[in-house]
Amino acid sequence: MTVRTIPKLGFGTYGRTGPEGISALLAALEIGYRHLDTAQDYGNESEVGAAVARSGLARDDVFVTTKIAPRHYAKGNLLPSLHESLDRLGLEQVDLTLLHWPSPNGEIELGDYVEQIAEAKQSGLSRLIGVSNFTIDLLQQTMAIVGEDAIATNQFELNPHMQNKRLADFCQANGILVTCYLPIAHGTLGDDPVLQRIAAAHGATIAQVALAFELAKGYAAIPTSSKVERIRENFASQSIVLSPTDIRDIESVDQGRRRIDPAWGPDWD
Ligand SMILES: NC(=O)c1ccc[n+]([C@@H]2O[C@H](COP(=O)([O-])OP(=O)(O)OC[C@H]3O[C@@H](n4cnc5c(N)ncnc54)[C@H](OP(=O)(O)O)[C@@H]3O)[C@@H](O)[C@H]2O)c1
Repeated sequence: MTVRTIPKLGFGTYGRTGPEGISALLAALEIGYRHLDTAQDYGNESEVGAAVARSGLARDDVFVTTKIAPRHYAKGNLLPSLHESLDRLGLEQVDLTLLHWPSPNGEIELGDYVEQIAEAKQSGLSRLIGVSNFTIDLLQQTMAIVGEDAIATNQFELNPHMQNKRLADFCQANGILVTCYLPIAHGTLGDDPVLQRIAAAHGATIAQVALAFELAKGYAAIPTSSKVERIRENFASQSIVLSPTDIRDIESVDQGRRRIDPAWGPDWD
């Protein structure tokens, strides 16, 4: 099976470093995940590359995403940094490269780094390109530079307690896949009585219900865990079918509770 499109349930890799990280990554591939989400700033591109190589899977069977750190956004720096990522990953091409954040405090002109990520695709270093932590305004500016169809995804914080509805709706209306990070809110959704009730009704866990909700909305999600049982549990969320009533009930538990909010970040929608 060749993975040409972004697999909707991916394995987040933040924190998966060293030999234990490689073991978790190998477990994820063994369980069936076919999308690994890394970043220059996670310090684990080598581990991701090692896991892909050791998995025995064909290169085309695993979808690999990396993200460019904003410190590489100045003109002339982005593509060399992507070459270094490819060296660490042991790959000739990544499937998807994201701009990890808008330039902190807008220090570097958006056009400078957006044009360079477009070149990453044109030169074949990355099959697809996208963004992360971009607001509606930044997405509109980016589309004006690279064209309406160029952005494969926007990756941002989204889980039942942080539904980011305006941004998610904008992405979907513009053909940009929503990729949810913190999709299970670091495992902190357990106290929610609505989620508890729906999980019990489906014989599922709350993490599984959160992921099933995101997938049912047409989003991609990239949960991570260091524990094989949880890696398996999260993957099994794909078989849970929520009813329209379940989905409406989960939509009602949104608290707008953002956990990743650096002072240098964008003005969120
Ligand atoms: N683009 C960005 O700026 C950005 C920002 C943040 C994250 N990300 C990406 O998104 C991925 C996911 O985000 P995240 O790792 O921060 O958050 P997450 O996936 O929502 O939560 C992971 C945490 O939840 C625990 N967990 C995992 N499965 C569980 C389960 N079934 N039940 C209860 N707890 C569970 C894990 O602990 P154990 O290890 O103990 O299981 C881990 O501490 C990252 O790995 C990264 O690839 C991107």
